Amino acid sequence: MLLVTGGAGFIGGNFILDWLDSRKVEGVVNLDKVSYAANLLTLSSLSHDSRHVFIRGDICDYELVLSLLKKYSIRAVINFAAESHVDRSIHGPKDFIQTNVVGTFNLLEAVRAYWTDLSNHRKQTFRFLHVSTDEVYGSLSSNDPAFSELNRYEPNSPYSASKAASDHLVRAWHHTYGLPVLTTNCSNNYGPYQFPEKLIPLIILNALSGKSLPIYGDGQQIRDWLYVKDHCSAICRVLNFGKVGETYNIGGGNEKTNLDVVNIVCDILDNLLPKSDGSKYASQISYVKDRPGHDRRYAIDANKLMQELDWRPLESFTSGIQKTVSWYLSNQEWTKSIISGAYRDWVKFQYN
Ligand code: NAD
Ligand code: DAU
Repeated sequence: MLLVTGGAGFIGGNFILDWLDSRKVEGVVNLDKVSYAANLLTLSSLSHDSRHVFIRGDICDYELVLSLLKKYSIRAVINFAAESHVDRSIHGPKDFIQTNVVGTFNLLEAVRAYWTDLSNHRKQTFRFLHVSTDEVYGSLSSNDPAFSELNRYEPNSPYSASKAASDHLVRAWHHTYGLPVLTTNCSNNYGPYQFPEKLIPLIILNALSGKSLPIYGDGQQIRDWLYVKDHCSAICRVLNFGKVGETYNIGGGNEKTNLDVVNIVCDILDNLLPKSDGSKYASQISYVKDRPGHDRRYAIDANKLMQELDWRPLESFTSGIQKTVSWYLSNQEWTKSIISGAYRDWVKFQYN
């Protein structure tokens, strides 16, 4: 079986659904502490599927991780578990250090203990795949080439610094102990099941409820958007064919300013669900105080992954964003279940 950590979150949840949907006989043990960002409804279609074993627990719990590795004879670990929201890391970095740095350290140590005792054959085929971010490379100016795997690490936020630290630990556990690791650094994801504190789902939900659509600063910051299912397919390719010890950048070549993204979402909503008063959703746009230390531009050069592992994204931004907006319109139960009191408190704190 695979051990997937953070599988009740956005990308991990999509990964598990896609993995099992492609009729894989190999099951998944899903270790997730069910933080505010998790939603077990994402996995409700698997409630009677014996290939999915859900364990509520923390990656910082060494004994728990080691026991799961042994009990389920795990052949690969894919580490999605993390605190993932940059704004939250600015207001409270401690949880980010705990999960992203200490948690990854714990996982590596438990995996090392397990892996050391495997037979030679199983040792060679075992993999630890660490899911990371393009934010570790810092910020680009408008003329810079996109981030390649050779870029220097220059993380700027507590979130990206914690992810950078975890990437370094993974690298060192390979270099020093020979652990068969792989690291992926992906650009901004969007798609079904994303927690609505992130830009795209936040804009969709605010638009539908008549609230303002907050744009930080001048809205000219650029992100390189990738449909989540394309990220998941890239992870599968790296897991199956990636060279041990290597890192792979993942991105879709879809650079857009935040303002463009918000306008595109508004246009789609104007078509799918026109407002009864005839006004446009974009009229709800409101410019708010900028994020401290806001990175200006991210862009990914995914040539290594495309050339060496023959990966291609299936969605363009046009097709992916259309699917995403439609998904949020048809799955309002999912969103309602996640918008708890804690979510409302965060929105009030961040935007008031
Ligand atoms: P998310 O916040 O939606 O989900 C994270 C999941 O991890 C949640 O289910 C949460 O309960 C779980 N978790 C948190 N702390 C844990 C702990 N200590 N033990 C066990 N489980 C814990 O995040 P996401 O957007 O799905 O991101 C997944 C991974 O991908 C992260 O490592 C993130 O850095 C990386 N990433 C995200 C993006 C993106 O655009 N969202 C892009 C590139 C990389
Ligand atoms: O690049 C990969 C990263 O993408 C991942 O590692 C992170 O886990 C993920 O959260 C994401 O980080 P960003 O900070 O880029 O995503 P976010 O959705 O928070 O913001 C996207 C852009 O939109 C960013 O420039 C900030 C801006 N923004 C965001 C929010 C929530 C706004 O203008 N208004 C908002 O209300």
